Amino acid sequence: VIVRFDCNFLASRVLFGPGRLGEVGAEARRLGKQRALFVCTPSLCSSTHAARVRASLGELLVLEYTNVEPHVPVHVVEKGIALANRYKIDLVIALGGGSAIGVGKAITFYASTSSEYTAINQQCIPLIAIPTTYAGSEATPVLGITDLELGQKQILSDPRIIPRVVIYDPEVTFDLPSQLTASTGVNALAHCVEAVYSRSSNPLIRAVALDGIARIRWALPRCVETGQDLKARSIMLIGAFMAGFSLANAGMALHHGICHSLGGKFRLQHGIINAIMLPHVMRYNADTATSALAEIASALGIPASDTDMYKRALQAADLVYEFVGSLGLPQRLRDINIAESDLLAVAEGVMHSRAVLDNPKPITSAKQVLAILRQAW
Ligand SMILES: [Fe+2]
Repeated sequence: VIVRFDCNFLASRVLFGPGRLGEVGAEARRLGKQRALFVCTPSLCSSTHAARVRASLGELLVLEYTNVEPHVPVHVVEKGIALANRYKIDLVIALGGGSAIGVGKAITFYASTSSEYTAINQQCIPLIAIPTTYAGSEATPVLGITDLELGQKQILSDPRIIPRVVIYDPEVTFDLPSQLTASTGVNALAHCVEAVYSRSSNPLIRAVALDGIARIRWALPRCVETGQDLKARSIMLIGAFMAGFSLANAGMALHHGICHSLGGKFRLQHGIINAIMLPHVMRYNADTATSALAEIASALGIPASDTDMYKRALQAADLVYEFVGSLGLPQRLRDINIAESDLLAVAEGVMHSRAVLDNPKPITSAKQVLAILRQAW
């Protein structure tokens, strides 16, 4: 087989390790910035983590914006941009999950920079992202802003959106509740799984994604069980870093296409839908992406005694189904109040998704998607 691929790696500076949150001020100074805006999830703004960010930034901290809401709504973004312009902000720090980082990305992308140099280079205000979940927004050049009135999400992808610096500090994830640990952790697992079999993947991303799967398989149940387990939290966060890198550099496939269609229609938590759909899409792809799913089986720790690759591919899907159940997450669409009569519209929505093109098994009609949704219902 002749291997051919193109790839552009998007790069952020990454600081990883316990206690690294305290280096945010040094990073701001290294970037030569003087007027920082701190974007923070409301639930975190009275935490010790937020206090450490403030202490580390010191006199650089000009303003805080804590009106972060889920799904990055237009009104939240507009207010943030107006504040950043009024206070001549030259750096944004975002602490939180996908919503806080999404608001941070939107502000840095749309607020005008005061420096002539950055204007000439068409760059954005730099963003320092400090993720507190495993969803991976910090690794991507993608921004999703939701118009709540129209119920529409506008997705924008631009290399300038990716954060300049990412600080992965496992201690910051200690307080992530077990349900959010489980759901955002399975989202990271899904990013790795899809990056292994996506048509737009490549050998380097596959290696990273398979290693991410093994780490998440080991660490996620331990993190759900004991939030303050530093070893498990560290390995899980490395897995999430690998998942984010995979997500940023390989096109997601059918699973994410389905999750976005479902999420857009019912405004459900992305990680919960992920958890329900993942084993079903893996099973659907098993007869086409057989060797990729057999490799996933190995990464999940399924012993290689059985040499029938197709059987191993199906075992990988079965194990993921059990894994999701063991984490206490829902396993059927009906359990999250989705009506069977809504499934056809969801399937039709998936057909407009780019993710269909990157799926290893061809999708030619909404009927194929509907059959998968019925199994998951
Ligand atoms: Fe995702």
